[in-house]
Order: sequence, then structure tokens, then C-alpha cells
Amino acid sequence: MIADDDGTRDGEPWGFDTWAVRGGQVRTAEQEHSEPIFATSSFAFASAAEAAARFAGDEPGNIYSRFTNPTVRTFEQRLARLEGGTHAVATASGMAAILATCLGLLKSGDHVVASRSIFGSTVQLFNKILAPFGIATTFVDMGDYGAWERAIGPATRLLFLETPTNPLTTVADIPRLAALARDKGVLLAVDNCFCTPVLQRPLELGAHLVIHSATKYLDGQGRCIGGAVVFPDAHLWEPVYGVLRTAGPSMSPFNAWVFLKGLETLSVRMAAHCERALTVARWLEARPGVRRVFYPGLASHPQHELARHQQSGYGGIVAFEVAGGQEAAWRVVDATRMLSITANLGDTRTTITHPATTTHSRLTAEERVRAGIGDGLLRVAVGLEDPADITADLARGLD
Ligand SMILES: Cc1ncc(COP(=O)(O)O)c(C=O)c1O
Repeated sequence: MIADDDGTRDGEPWGFDTWAVRGGQVRTAEQEHSEPIFATSSFAFASAAEAAARFAGDEPGNIYSRFTNPTVRTFEQRLARLEGGTHAVATASGMAAILATCLGLLKSGDHVVASRSIFGSTVQLFNKILAPFGIATTFVDMGDYGAWERAIGPATRLLFLETPTNPLTTVADIPRLAALARDKGVLLAVDNCFCTPVLQRPLELGAHLVIHSATKYLDGQGRCIGGAVVFPDAHLWEPVYGVLRTAGPSMSPFNAWVFLKGLETLSVRMAAHCERALTVARWLEARPGVRRVFYPGLASHPQHELARHQQSGYGGIVAFEVAGGQEAAWRVVDATRMLSITANLGDTRTTITHPATTTHSRLTAEERVRAGIGDGLLRVAVGLEDPADITADLARGLD
């Protein structure tokens, strides 16, 4: 393999956008311009001695694609640097990233404090999968910083949150929670799926690790399932990589290649998502029949100032509450002709979701009320279509 470039401009590291396009690429002797897909399950050794040395860890190099694969490694290195980290593991899904993190860093008897406003499957993972193995989780209201502190006990190892949250786009003060984590000697993990490193870099704000569902904006075109965990150094990476290597929820080379293509355009796509989402949010705010709009870029958003300082953009997710409950909300969904009625987000195509009966339907009615997920709430993941077409599609049901 021949290194494409050393990743510097006259000794200074490449800028973010250059790294997003070129970072981590290695060229084979074929001198291919674009990254190849190493669609191979294993790698051949030149000799028995080389095989033994690779397995013993005495010599670097590929062994087997569950352990490592050049296309996957390029994705890991590119994403790690974009997040301001040094190491990453790429996983089969966003949920596999969270599972590998927990299996690698926690043991029976450990305790987790998590925000109540996290993805439904993450709640299930903590409550249904990890709890029987002796890892207990306490859920707290994300914005109640006193509650985070009170929930931390001698067995606590990890604080876990998403910001902005899904679907209400509530923003957490990452430096404040990072300071608490350091003070208490626990780890802070941030799911950065909504912002991506283009808009927010949790490691630079003090978090210990960053989680991604690459399925969302990192892909950006709704094609592949994947995930990643990014670390500031090798220390935390090692046990999580160990889970991948042994238990195997690894990313496929083809998916890594798709995500590499996604990273190349991530900056320009995120800027376009932000611009269109703000247009849609402002349009909704002026609309009769819309009770409330949730978008961090609006001055009316409770954490608008925090988001302005912590993020370099407000993202592509807009939630809004219509008068008339579920019936009215479903009317808006069913009247759309262009928007995709689907739970995915982060796509070039705008998607619309009724959280109470889909993504959050596994919560009890009481849990939904507590999480602020009303029956009239809708989530729109604003894509890259002409905003006039998006608002026209929403107007059908609102009229
Ligand atoms: C914030 C967040 N984290 C994690 C996940 C899980 O990712 P995946 O579906 O890739 O497993 C999702 C999925 O929607 C998500 O929205």
C-alpha cells in the first residue's frame, strides 16, 4: 500500500473539508483515484512466520475482515479525525456501536446514567439487554443537571446522551456535563448523529467518546446501515475494538465505502440541510393550526442560545405540534405526496414521522407524556429538495 498523502499542508494538518474528502486514503500499486472496496473476508500471508507474527500482534497488517479491513479502516480514520479524535471503530449499525461501547467499557455491577430523551432502541438496550447482565441504568431529564449529579453513585461508569434530542431537538450543555463527568471520574458518551462533526464536535467540548449511527447523515442518501464510536486516544478504543474483533458486529467493506462517499459531501450537505430546515421551521411557525415548532435555530427555541454557542449550525430536524391530536397529525402525514413516510432521517429526501405511533410507540402513554411526545407531534427530517416543494407538501394536510 502506498500512502496517498501525509495529511498535512506544509506541516499543518489538513482542514476539515480536505480531510473529509481525502483523509485516511491509501492507494494500492494500481494507483486508483477513488478508494477501492476490499471485498475480501481474509488476507493472505507471505509465509507461516508472517501469519504467526500478525496473529501475535508483533507485526502490523491485515488478518481477517472481522478484525480489520482497509476500506473500513479508511472510514474509521477519516471519521476519527473529523470528530477531533485519534481512534474509531466502525460497526454494523448505530445500535451495534452503542452495544460494543457498553460491552467494552462496562461490567456487571456497573451503573449508567442516561438522558430520558434518547432513541427508543437505546432505552431498550439499557433496560432489556444490559440490565439482565447486571448493568443498571438510571434515566434523568436531560436538562436537569442536578438530577444527573444526584443519579451518579459509586458504581456509575458512564453518562449517555443525545443532543439535540429526537424528536424535540432539546439541546444539552455538553461542557457542563463533561465537567461533571470529570469531577466524578466517570465517562461521558455523546450520540452525535443529529449534528455530525460538521456542526458539533463533542470530544472538543470535553466528552470521552462519540457515537454515530452512520445510517443517517454520514451516509446521507438512505442506503446503508452502519455505526461508529470515536475516541480521543487508544486507551478507551482498545477494549471496544476487542469486542468488535471477538464478537464481530463489524462494518462490511461495501458499507464503509458508501459511508466514505458520504463523508466527502458531508459539509456541503449539512449546510444545505440547515438552510432548508430553517426555512421550513419559519414557515411552520407562521402557519395557523401549528401550535408549536421545535427547531434550535428559531429564537423561540428554549436552548437557542446554547445551540448557537455549542453548534456551528442547527441541523435538519424540525418537529412541530398540530392542533387536533393524532387525527390531525395523521391527516398531515397522509396528505403528503412527495415526503417519504418513514422513520429514517438524514437523507437527501425529506421524511415525515408521527413519533407517538412509530419511533416512540414502545413507550407507555405515561412515558410519552413525560418525554413531551404528544399525539399531535410530527417530525420532519428536512432533505435537500426545494424548500418550496417541502412546504407545499406539508400545506396540503395543514389546510
Ligand atoms: C440518535 C440515534 N442513535 C442511534 C440510532 C441507531 O442507529 P441504527 O439504526 O444505525 O442502528 C438511531 C436510529 O435511528 C438514532 O436516531
